Amino acid sequence: MTKTAIAGYMFSNESPESADFYREIVDGLSTLPRTIPPKYFYDEEGSRLFESICEQPEYYPTRTEISLLEKHVDDIRVLAGSDCCLVEPGSGSCEKVRLLLDTLRPTVYVPLDISCEHLKSAAAGIAADYPWLDVHAVCTDITSEVSLSFIPAQATPVMFYPGSSIGNFDPEDAVEFLACLAQIAGRGGGLLIGVDRKKDHEILQQAYNDAGGVTAAFNLNLLERANRELDADFNVDAFEHFASYNSAAGRIEMHLISTRKQTVNIDGHCFDFNAGDSIHTENSYKYTDEEFTTLAEQAGFTPCEIWSDSDGLFSLHFLRVS
Ligand code: TRP
Repeated sequence: MTKTAIAGYMFSNESPESADFYREIVDGLSTLPRTIPPKYFYDEEGSRLFESICEQPEYYPTRTEISLLEKHVDDIRVLAGSDCCLVEPGSGSCEKVRLLLDTLRPTVYVPLDISCEHLKSAAAGIAADYPWLDVHAVCTDITSEVSLSFIPAQATPVMFYPGSSIGNFDPEDAVEFLACLAQIAGRGGGLLIGVDRKKDHEILQQAYNDAGGVTAAFNLNLLERANRELDADFNVDAFEHFASYNSAAGRIEMHLISTRKQTVNIDGHCFDFNAGDSIHTENSYKYTDEEFTTLAEQAGFTPCEIWSDSDGLFSLHFLRVS
């Protein structure tokens, strides 16, 4: 890992290489069902599109979670304690954490993200706006092993994982990922996590099919990215965004569907598609409070508090490592 001090904050880089993208996309398209790992959504353009998704009127999770954070920040401070170190895997634009910083007054803030340039500018923004705060950004794939040896020993790590990103793991993988967070936080450490609830299917359907087409553009950007970085020749106009709620599995499924018979080349590898063939790009699992609590307990957490909005759309959980 390379470590650099940049104006006002520390930066470490252990992000995946384009060779990983090449290998994973070729593997993912070579077996059925075809998949592309969702972590590759988040290049510069993808990170920008994702922020725009969060502002779409149909996408209720962001604004609902923000109002929960605003409303309950004093309770969160009590649970986090007076000397906490806030660690945020998949920090993106670092916007939500701003709602916590002045009240929680953590000793250190550690944003972790796969999108390096995006992380640098977001971390620089936090360092500039909170001069009293020690910021240590790490560019990394959060599903790989992350070592945070620079966290001061006396501080209580509190993991902050908003956005219902936990729903993007299959439940077994979610338990494994939560167990990693528990490991980083250590006994007595905290986890503040946002979880999207099961609800009326129409609301879910619309949230992932915004009328502005931003989610569609975000999904299709995976193919654009492969064209940009891997010399692939996806005809992006011949694929369509498809998102639908699978009630048996309790998840929104996101696909890219080929609209015609076509062959795609990626550096000498050929992939044939018929009209209607899918590339499965992402799942977003929805959990009742009970279902999520059970997962978190399997990962070694004890539930402390759950806050939800009056419409019951979204929950914010605070848990502690048992
Ligand atoms: N964590 C977000 C969610 O599942 C991620 C997300 C929102 C997303 N919209 C998306 C991922 C569209 C892929 C495509 O709600």
